[in-house]
Amino acid sequence: MSKRNELVLVLDFGCQYKELIAHAVRGLSVYAEIHAGALSADEIKRLNPIGIILSGGPGSVYDSQAPLCDPAVFALGIPVLGICYGMQMICHMLGGEVVAAPVGEFGRITMTPEASEGNASRLLDEVQEPSVVMMSHRDMVARLPEGFRVTAKSPTCIAACEDATRNLYGVQFHPETKHTVHGQEIIRNFLYNICGASGDYRLDDVIDEQIEQIRRQVGSEQVLLALSGGVDSSVCASLLSKAVPDQLTCIFIDHGLMRQHEGDEIEEVFSQRDVRFIRVNAEERFLARLKGVTDPETKRMRIGEEFIRVLEGEARKLGDIPFLAQGTIYSDVIESSCSDESATIKSHHNVGGLPEKLAFTGIVEPLAGLFKNEVRTLGEKLGLPPSLIHRQPFPGPGLAVRIMGEVTAEKLDILRAADAILREELDGIAGTDTASGGAANLSTLKPDQYFVVLTDTCSTGVKGSDRTYDKVVAIRAVTTDDFMTCEYAELPHDVLRRISSRITGEVPAISRVVYDITSKPPATVEWE
Ligand code: XMP
Repeated sequence: MSKRNELVLVLDFGCQYKELIAHAVRGLSVYAEIHAGALSADEIKRLNPIGIILSGGPGSVYDSQAPLCDPAVFALGIPVLGICYGMQMICHMLGGEVVAAPVGEFGRITMTPEASEGNASRLLDEVQEPSVVMMSHRDMVARLPEGFRVTAKSPTCIAACEDATRNLYGVQFHPETKHTVHGQEIIRNFLYNICGASGDYRLDDVIDEQIEQIRRQVGSEQVLLALSGGVDSSVCASLLSKAVPDQLTCIFIDHGLMRQHEGDEIEEVFSQRDVRFIRVNAEERFLARLKGVTDPETKRMRIGEEFIRVLEGEARKLGDIPFLAQGTIYSDVIESSCSDESATIKSHHNVGGLPEKLAFTGIVEPLAGLFKNEVRTLGEKLGLPPSLIHRQPFPGPGLAVRIMGEVTAEKLDILRAADAILREELDGIAGTDTASGGAANLSTLKPDQYFVVLTDTCSTGVKGSDRTYDKVVAIRAVTTDDFMTCEYAELPHDVLRRISSRITGEVPAISRVVYDITSKPPATVEWE
């Protein structure tokens, strides 16, 4: 973040774990940035990192089109750690041999360090006993380059190797995942034993630096922030309110697709803060645009377009505001394939079909260098309430994509009432034991995201002596690390029973509750 910080470069070769690597490094108080794998050695020299980590990647290093780093990287004298594909790349490029393994290794595998009298590996310092590591590879290093030695083995392959003289290290496993028991120690060893890091990356400094940077960027001009109430935009608002309180206007566009009382909660938090806060109640406009629309992507597109239209209208009313602030975070930046990302409106949390640009002369993105958990920590330091900081992800198009078929005010009310019951029941389980008196602590079972979906199906029921034909809702509750994949949460039956009986009892329009037991893949988290 700061030019003063020691930097570790994570060169990306297409690994899904690249963010985890950078994340792990920052978690150890060293600033890390992710860059393209092909970054030239000259550019690396200019960035002046204390260490380089070569990420994993999907293919084989010996393929003709395989992405490889600039060979001059190995001669820079900067310590290099290759992870998985990264280790194979080091070995392949420096004259070793990488081949398809007779059997790949996937999942938790035991790694055994190779004992070496008087010449212990600084990378595996304090990791002398066999321990579990997370492997995911089909190729293996069959022959090491000259100067390298094996420092650990798995049952079928070289698990770690190094040429300490040249400061080149490789691990076949993934130390960045929590499944590798000593992963954190190994990364710490690389940073502190090998790269000589001092650990100068602290979020407290980030706050000060960003405040300074915002003030420098906007000078005495006005800034507009579209506040959604999500973690990122809320923390962004807090930071800006510290930096330029008298120049900030936060517009909260309530599209009417929020959950129960959510709009009021957001208003309550921010109207008390030192900012100009404007709430725009635009439910009718959004519902009019959604009338008759059943296709999910069309819903997203219409909501996105309407959002921008409302924002433009409000901005016009406020007069000339040159700067637009956005809660873009580092993951958005990494994932964005857009070359001119700083000038493009973040697609209102990925909703499709937005106009390309708005008429702002500058974009302020104070969180663009931070991971989600760092944004949360920053939010805590800035005094935001836990309910906002630890909010579950909530899609930009809101409840519109949790109502199958056309979205109407009536359906929104039904869904909001059912969803509020689910949240009440599941929010409340953290830290309590099961009703049956079992030893399991439900906080460990608490799903990472949970919500109710209003299906477009009705079913027969009996309420009292009447037969009914009312709506079916589905409960979705999932556990996940990254929302790229998920498992359905194994909620205890007594909890499910209570939720179902409360929803059917308290929301008259609902006759039946079903539980979604599908993982992602093949399903997605949301139903639409
Ligand atoms: P899916 O349904 O794709 O969801 O498995 C993964 C995560 O993304 C959220 N999600 C969205 N977030 N706009 C958003 O800002 C959207 O259109 C959207 N669709 C899904 C979803 O809630 C889950 O956390």
